[in-house]
Amino acid sequence: MSLAVCPGSFDPITLGHVDVVRRARSMFDEVVVAVAHNPAKKYRFDAEERVGLARAALTGIDGVRVDLVPGLLATYCAEVGAAAIVKGLRGAADFDSEHAMALMNRHLSGIETVFVMGDPTLAHVASSLVKDVARHGGPVDDLVPSAVADALRASTVPSPAGEDR
Ligand code: PNS
Repeated sequence: MSLAVCPGSFDPITLGHVDVVRRARSMFDEVVVAVAHNPAKKYRFDAEERVGLARAALTGIDGVRVDLVPGLLATYCAEVGAAAIVKGLRGAADFDSEHAMALMNRHLSGIETVFVMGDPTLAHVASSLVKDVARHGGPVDDLVPSAVADALRASTVPSPAGEDR
């Protein structure tokens, strides 16, 4: 039984993420979507909300579950016996940060990272851009799962520039 971990902030999960999770599932028997903390980011949704939205988005996909990773990803991967980390690359811009994280995770626990190329039709779909579109009242229904679109609309309060919520 091979298990892969798909880690990320998922703030919130997008259709691009779902595409990567499906690709990972096509290669591994089981996939854990690991909602983790990136200290470089200021989150719009707290960890429990991000987990809940990811679960809603991935409900019904056999062999996929969502977990919260409060600490080091490499430690989590060792604990669950992951064969690999799977991440998506939208383009060259993703490569630099992913390269460093892949090497660090391998340094920490020996785990390899497998990169998959996301669907090019979703190459522009980034959580940060989706939040910006939603913040200004733009349409996000074809960018994120429906539960996420609802959550974005529910939490969008017209506010001065610079406010995240
Ligand atoms: O979607 P993101 O923000 O690019 O995902 C980055 C994330 C959350 C996977 C990364 O920051 C992470 O693994 N955080 C958990 C703590 C950890 O293991 N830090 C060392 C990373 S090499």
